[in-house]
Amino acid sequence: MIKITIIPGDGIGKEVMNAATYVLDSLELNLDYIFASAGYECFEKTGSTIPDETINLTKKTSATLFGAVTTVPGHKSAILSLRKELDLYANIRPVKSYPGVNSLFQDLDFVIIRENSEGLYSGLEEYTDEGAVAKRVITRRASERISKFAFDYAQKTGRKKVTAVHKANVLKKTDGVFKDSFYKVGEEYPDLEKEDFYVDATAMYFLTKPHIFDVLVTTNLFGDILSDEGAGLVGGLGLIPSANIGDKQGLFEPVHGSAPRHAGKGTANPAAMMLSAVLMLDYLEEHDEARRMEKALIDVLDEGKVVTGDLGGTASTMEMAAEVRKKLESLS
Ligand code: NAI
Ligand code: MG
Repeated sequence: MIKITIIPGDGIGKEVMNAATYVLDSLELNLDYIFASAGYECFEKTGSTIPDETINLTKKTSATLFGAVTTVPGHKSAILSLRKELDLYANIRPVKSYPGVNSLFQDLDFVIIRENSEGLYSGLEEYTDEGAVAKRVITRRASERISKFAFDYAQKTGRKKVTAVHKANVLKKTDGVFKDSFYKVGEEYPDLEKEDFYVDATAMYFLTKPHIFDVLVTTNLFGDILSDEGAGLVGGLGLIPSANIGDKQGLFEPVHGSAPRHAGKGTANPAAMMLSAVLMLDYLEEHDEARRMEKALIDVLDEGKVVTGDLGGTASTMEMAAEVRKKLESLS
């Protein structure tokens, strides 16, 4: 029995979670879901966007699947609180093209690994007489930790090259630490190719020669921006999953939010949530079942018949889920 915390959240978060668990249910795995609340509706009921019992539960289960939440202005962000409480320092965002999906490139397959715990998102921002200042904290510990994570990830997944992305020509001290940490840790991985690029050049190479990339590792803000650029290369928000990984926990979520304007209509694309579940299965070392679920979804995307409106079809969220499940059941 594998215990999983399920946090559907708000709006389309709940709808895509229903769709993903409907498909997960037909896998040959013994998953035990424990539902927990977070987000806007949770705040209205309990006065908290992320109750302690939800956080405690995520610490006890093998992994967490998170749908999406509607932000409550002025209150703690549920997802940022979870990343912090569980020390989910690595954010993995695959940039992968799928057949049948209208996108800028048809054959991309690289992965961005973003440092999730410091950098410009350290929360050290303050007003000054002249305006405001944000501190960009880069520690050796976090830089080495994320570099090691990226090299291990590359090794485990059979990738060949890791590219560090930074701006050390201008941010000489902070990104100097990041770059040096990358090469220092890299010495322990003689079989992997290493290189580093400036972030501005990388942004251009994404458009002009994205096939050169394999695994990228970068600091928090650069990773945030580059991963949205990456999403744009391969078909948009309804398709992009993510993994938030720490030494003890993993949390898996689509990149999109609760899309309140679409909520309640049953038209959201469940693919990003399903692909997040696939990342979770890989994290749980259930690679065979991960490949089956991924293949079933890819087949449905490729056929393009039973897909949601954003992919050019007319299917509802659950009709697409039913099609994926049907395909899955036909794969032995
Ligand atoms: P959003 O990602 O919810 O939606 C933006 C637009 O993208 C939607 O209007 C829709 O056209 C499209 N879209 C997104 N997901 C889709 C899907 N699965 N299928 C089809 N189309 C899809 O971003 P928005 O509107 O800026 O934020 C809505 C709420 O979600 C806000 O309260 C925001 O703070 C929150 N949010 C939460 C996140 C999380 O829970 N991790 C992440 C991003 C936003
Ligand atoms: Mg972002």
